[in-house]
Amino acid sequence: MACISPSARSGFFISIEGIDGAGKSTHIDAMATALRAAGHCVELTREPGGTPLGEHLRELVLTQPMSAMTEALLVFAARAEHVRSRIAPALARGAVVISDRFADASFAYQGAGRGVNMQHLHELEAMSLQLCDGGARIEPDLTLWFDLDAATAAARLAHARVPDRFERQPQDFFHAVRTGYAQRCAAHPARFVRINAAQSPEQVRHDVLAALAARGLISAPVVTPIAAQP
Ligand code: TYD
Repeated sequence: MACISPSARSGFFISIEGIDGAGKSTHIDAMATALRAAGHCVELTREPGGTPLGEHLRELVLTQPMSAMTEALLVFAARAEHVRSRIAPALARGAVVISDRFADASFAYQGAGRGVNMQHLHELEAMSLQLCDGGARIEPDLTLWFDLDAATAAARLAHARVPDRFERQPQDFFHAVRTGYAQRCAAHPARFVRINAAQSPEQVRHDVLAALAARGLISAPVVTPIAAQP
């Protein structure tokens, strides 16, 4: 595939992150709707996955026993494919790409959660996000981190479907993953927006739309006043 130069990248890339049970999925459709209403062409995707090969790798990662390093290599392999065959072309077309998880998830889950060496993850990140020598490095312009404590997230997941390999992990694992996200947020303050996912769904939705408005993608969300008591 042709190497995409930074100047050819006219779209906007948003990644959505958070521990399992933080409730990010609920808000992704609302984001897409608001962006489309504002005239954007929106490409919705997810990781691991987003391409036919990536979806095969997702199935393996979510169901098969494997070492933490194998897990890291597979999620980054899926990402290399995703970036090259889907995200970069969509950005070049000027689309707003929303990815349900991206590279921060690997630092949080495989790094902070599973203990894979962070330097190795940085090397894998450089290889998978850099399209080719001298080409653009595809990184999110905005990352919405749905932050929730591990105990509340576990309580929300308790009523969900059959848990996958990650959702079966104990609370301590998710506490570590949350810490990993907090570290990434601190390291990339310009890109990250922390959303307090412990709030009501309405307030979370407001904060998500406000983050999009702050980047000029949509107009500011309307604040609905609380009805006056009689
Ligand atoms: P998730 O977004 O939770 O999908 P769903 O809502 O359909 O369950 O993603 C699946 C899991 O993959 C999630 O538990 C986190 C894990 N994961 C990693 O461990 N590393 C990664 O790099 C990515 C992208 C996801």
